[in-house]
Amino acid sequence: MTAAVSIDGVLVPAGEARISVFDRGFLYGDSVYEVVRTYDLEPFEVRAHLARLAASAERIFLPLPWSGDRVEREIRRVVEASRGGGDDDPTAPPWNQGERSVRVVVTRGSGEMGLDPALATEPVVVVLAIPLRGPPLAAYRQGVSAWPFGGAGAPPRGGDPGAKTGEHLFHVLAMREARAHEGHEALLVDRAGCVTEGASSNVFAVRGDVLETPPLQAGILAGVTRACVIELALELGIQVKEQALPLASLADADEAFLTSTVREILPLVRVGSLPVGSGAPGPVTNRLHAAFRQRAGGGHNPGKVPGPG
Ligand code: PDD
Repeated sequence: MTAAVSIDGVLVPAGEARISVFDRGFLYGDSVYEVVRTYDLEPFEVRAHLARLAASAERIFLPLPWSGDRVEREIRRVVEASRGGGDDDPTAPPWNQGERSVRVVVTRGSGEMGLDPALATEPVVVVLAIPLRGPPLAAYRQGVSAWPFGGAGAPPRGGDPGAKTGEHLFHVLAMREARAHEGHEALLVDRAGCVTEGASSNVFAVRGDVLETPPLQAGILAGVTRACVIELALELGIQVKEQALPLASLADADEAFLTSTVREILPLVRVGSLPVGSGAPGPVTNRLHAAFRQRAGGGHNPGKVPGPG
């Protein structure tokens, strides 16, 4: 596998990339991050990701040491350094083959041990590019299942859901539960019994010809893909309602799908033990994904297969 890593602007061999055990990202999850992907090795929606990185940093009072332009240049440099063969995945959809997933992590750095953020004054910037590993093509054709986690009685979710930070334990436990039930994704359920988002995705339901998705105020990450999908839906004349999504109403929707940078638009055909709609990817999901492919894959590489097939 071809991986490239830079720490504070210095490219280091992936196997030798090291962060201090005193780093607050390691000790406390005191960090912010972004995951950007490429199409034709060009970072996609990079400006939106950088804006969200800045917003996340502001929400945890972490002064970013680099400008957005500098982070963008570093992303390109690290993608360039990751070029090379040996990373083909025959099960991947064609639009993912040869592409990179880039993680930008800014930690508050290290200092004297203690929770007080003032103990650290030099944030650390890590940029790493690895071969993009998304769902296999079969997952787009057949859809995936998700398992709910949380709800009344569960421990409350920690941190600020609107900031993309290194604090992830709730999501880790949610994924553990989902995997135990062979779920592809975990659905985070709030105390009122509403699905807010996935452990690493946003969630949409289709009812009739209307899209439903929880509003940002529900306590979710403002997904870059979510914003693209809402824009595309409006362009296609599909109405979008940002409203609470009770778990039961998701299961009895006509269709549902997950969105994220790595997944694009992935049909969700089972929630818990119940099928969604017909239990197969539906026409609205497929239409939106074809439009997304046109926007993402189409511009960068018109030769790539334009739909989930
Ligand atoms: N996760 N919600 C959560 C909690 C997420 O972690 C993510 C993304 C999303 C979707 O956002 P976007 O469309 O901008 O990728 C929603 C990234 C990809 C990750 O942690 O790997």
